[in-house]
Amino acid sequence: MTRKTTGIPGLDGMLQGGFPFPSAILVAGEPGTGKTTLAVQSLFHGAREGEKGLYITAISEPQWLVQKFLSSFSFYNQELVEKGVVNFIDIGPTLLKNPSDMLNIIKKKIEQYQPLRIVIDPITPMTDMLQWRGETREFMHEIFAYLKAFNCLTLVTAELSYDDISHSQESYMVDGVIMLSYPEEEKVRRKFLEVLKMRGTKHTTGRQLIDITDEGLAVQAGLR
Ligand SMILES: Nc1ncnc2c1ncn2[C@@H]1O[C@H](COP(=O)(O)OP(=O)(O)O)[C@@H](O)[C@H]1O
Ligand SMILES: [Mg+2]
Repeated sequence: MTRKTTGIPGLDGMLQGGFPFPSAILVAGEPGTGKTTLAVQSLFHGAREGEKGLYITAISEPQWLVQKFLSSFSFYNQELVEKGVVNFIDIGPTLLKNPSDMLNIIKKKIEQYQPLRIVIDPITPMTDMLQWRGETREFMHEIFAYLKAFNCLTLVTAELSYDDISHSQESYMVDGVIMLSYPEEEKVRRKFLEVLKMRGTKHTTGRQLIDITDEGLAVQAGLR
């Protein structure tokens, strides 16, 4: 099986070497748990190895704000952005005009940029724009089928808690699920990462402590 290293210190070791390739991975967790950090860190890691990267967002946070926040991390590389190796795009305005055209809008962008790594961050507000549940299910099904056929690594983030994930339709459609959490335990908050599912590979189970620093997200050394 082909794999791609994740760019997250400690995570490759939990996944027998990296993300299966091609694959679509769901990065789930409540706000502030580190989903954007993990996904974009992996995007820049790929870009440093010459892989074209595409970051797609919509409505939730204006694109410039996301980029401003991300540029404080050491993995962020403006030169790769200027050279067009990593591309940040906001499809929010296009989507607002016609939410039902979401799948085509995303497909067109992927065909235009031809990325090897894709981040869709976060998908939840996009699917919230679809009017009925059946439409969301259909969209999810089609987008994941399309991504799998495209021969790329996609990280899709979603604002889901542990309670949500067990009955979320997304988790059944993807090749892998990484859950990030930030529970309050004995009045201290610690951040965790758990691999809930990874098709075709053994993986470490259970919540692992993580750190987020200026260098980005890392599974705590000693637990690797
Ligand atoms: N340089 C940093 N050092 C330590 N923690 C940081 C740094 N930058 C951001 N964080 C923290 O990491 C988290 C980043 O979350 P983010 O990736 O935006 O999460 P999500 O996308 O899940 O909402 C926030 O909780 C923030 O406080
Ligand atoms: Mg985020």
